[in-house]
Amino acid sequence: MDNPAAGSTVRLKRRVQSQPVPDGLVLLDLDSLAVLELDAPGAAMWEALAAAPEPATAMEHAISVLLARYDVDRPTLEADLGRFVEELVEAGLASPADEPAASEPTAGMTPLPAPSGPGPGDLYLDLLTRAIAGLTVPANLPRLDTRVLGRDGPCGDPVPMSMIGLVRLRNIRDLAERVLADGVAGDFIECGVWRGGAAMVMRGVLAAHGVSDRKVWLADSFAGLPTPDPERYPEDAFWQPWAGRLAVSEQQVRRNFEAYGLLDDQVRFLPGWFADTLPQAPPAPLALLRLDGDLYASTEVALRQLYPRLSPGGFVIIDDYWLTSCRQAVDDYRAAEAIEAELQPIDWTGVWWRKSAP
Ligand SMILES: C[S@@+](CC[C@H](N)C(=O)[O-])C[C@H]1O[C@@H](n2cnc3c(N)ncnc32)[C@H](O)[C@@H]1O
Repeated sequence: MDNPAAGSTVRLKRRVQSQPVPDGLVLLDLDSLAVLELDAPGAAMWEALAAAPEPATAMEHAISVLLARYDVDRPTLEADLGRFVEELVEAGLASPADEPAASEPTAGMTPLPAPSGPGPGDLYLDLLTRAIAGLTVPANLPRLDTRVLGRDGPCGDPVPMSMIGLVRLRNIRDLAERVLADGVAGDFIECGVWRGGAAMVMRGVLAAHGVSDRKVWLADSFAGLPTPDPERYPEDAFWQPWAGRLAVSEQQVRRNFEAYGLLDDQVRFLPGWFADTLPQAPPAPLALLRLDGDLYASTEVALRQLYPRLSPGGFVIIDDYWLTSCRQAVDDYRAAEAIEAELQPIDWTGVWWRKSAP
């Protein structure tokens, strides 16, 4: 951009979620799932551009807003804003206003038809994932002391229903919608449930798309992590002090689903250790297999039992590839079964791959 600020035009990408953080703003590209962290000046520039009534005047609008707000001369501001917009363009979060906004399909897939705008199902799923991640109240707002209102009063704090964060929650939604769009047969399963949030996204996707002939299976001990067996699985020695931790009862998970209006007979519980429950259920076929059991033993048994039941075109999501125990189990299984489908990164730890036809 030669004269990036005055007189130039910019269109911010629409499918971007912004989340205030203490020192700025985090932008999440809802198509590529790339994250851009902005410091406070970057956040002010993004917000000023986003508040412009139309792309053609966005730069002028932002300049006048920022000049009124900050003690800065116009040439410096124009240069800073120009550099900022160049960064946005490079990140795929903006384009010159006379070009259509950049959009990046998920790696290795044909793009879905462009939506004409977010529909009610889209908006529901965006809000659902934000709520499950505990992000429905900006971090800078003081918490209300609910004791004043009574423990079950009408006000409460958002408590995350999942520990995996917005990007991996969003990935569940994307891949679940992909199997629906492609007609891949089967149910969805989460192995390693904790409070249930990741499985709630699966159920929410079915609800948003009016799908009543698929189930969401929740496999967990509901008594926390197992006692590792380091003699058999040396990679699991690390987990010794963790036995029994992360326990959330089945009853609590049911209550959590109920609180989100998502508990019904499409949600099925498989309580017990994976080694005992997964050989019996769920029945084939599966379309989405998500593994979040952390240990080598937990990951290995779930893959061995369930991967053969996954339909061709279905997805495997591995939450904890960053953990040595989990990564080793995945690598060993893929090597043993000669699985060549490329691992796709979700964020710093999550990966997925798509099962190909035999
Ligand atoms: C990291 S937490 C899951 C987090 C959850 N997916 C989320 O979205 O927040 C791991 C869960 O796996 C369960 N788990 C691990 N290994 C297991 C096994 N072999 N059998 C049954 N449950 C297991 C634990 O009880 C715990 O709830």
